[in-house]
Amino acid sequence: MAQKSVELQLGDLEGIGPATVSKLKEVGIESVLQLAVAMSDEIMNEVGSREKAYELISKARKTLQENDIIEREFVRAEEALEWRKSVLRCTTGSEALDALFAGGIETQAITELYGEFGSGKTQIAHTLCAICHLPPEEGGLGGGAIYLDTEGTFRPERLQQIADARGYDKKQVLQNTMVSKVYNSSHLELIIQSLGKYIEQNNIKLIVVDSIMSLHRAEFTGRGTLAERQQRLNSLLHRLIRTADIYNVAIIATNQVMSQPDTFFGDPTKPVGGNIVGHACTYRVYLRKSGSNRKAIMVDSPYHPYSEAIFTVSEKGVVDAEEKEKKSKAP
Ligand code: GTP
Ligand code: MG
Repeated sequence: MAQKSVELQLGDLEGIGPATVSKLKEVGIESVLQLAVAMSDEIMNEVGSREKAYELISKARKTLQENDIIEREFVRAEEALEWRKSVLRCTTGSEALDALFAGGIETQAITELYGEFGSGKTQIAHTLCAICHLPPEEGGLGGGAIYLDTEGTFRPERLQQIADARGYDKKQVLQNTMVSKVYNSSHLELIIQSLGKYIEQNNIKLIVVDSIMSLHRAEFTGRGTLAERQQRLNSLLHRLIRTADIYNVAIIATNQVMSQPDTFFGDPTKPVGGNIVGHACTYRVYLRKSGSNRKAIMVDSPYHPYSEAIFTVSEKGVVDAEEKEKKSKAP
């Protein structure tokens, strides 16, 4: 997929002249893939009007469809099934958790992990960063990771420890993981806008946003700002969906929970961000502490059955609960 796409140049698009190409480059869009991920607002000033912006973006998408880089607008289900074969799955380090995901974390999708503090969201993200460089035959995605750290909890030492404990080349794992400390919501939006370039240059296959809501939630506090916050989150999430699709990458978004005191039945916690986050994410997984273990529950998925899995965290990152037990019982 990616090889063919690199050869597609902006100038090769029909009806796009050198002037438009240089205008697009001014806003950081340097390839057909990057143009296809763009939103009309970002380029409308440069290209003259919103209509022109739409036209350019749809031209880019159409070219990608013609080159079999993304799915066509209308396909028969049979063809859609064939297309699903291009989805890669990254193992999580725990067989139980992989079973919950029907094989691992998927590319072309956003997987939301939500749960209270200490439920293992950041640990799952670190483990995936260590594993994703493995070739697909060995459970990886055959590429690197980008970690967008909004909470200051990324630890290279932890990544190194996980890679070491799993017997991977830790130097390679550290080299394959690009980290960006994100300071505010506009910074996050800007980084997500320019992801395409980094993905293309560094063969990225996994993107972690840890966490997706914290900055927007902290900055847009008053009631009057809620609509703007949701609108900005919406466009950020849509960009992520397009990025996942067009570049065949897996996206992990972690999310916090809030307590709903008015719940009478069931669990009183729910993810923050409301419907916007819920609808944009392909899979939603709820993580809970269960003694020293962790429980993952597939809450929302277009095709996974409702299921639960128990895992735990060790020096290898995420592992099966039994694996840790076995080890501690060993003489
Ligand atoms: P918040 O970001 O605070 O919402 O929590 P989170 O869901 O991201 O939690 P995180 O993934 O950071 O999980 C923290 C838990 O992982 C700790 O309570 C430990 O049980 C475990 N943990 C973290 N680091 C290590 C480690 O180096 N070794 C082991 N064995 N366990 C660890
Ligand atoms: Mg965390």
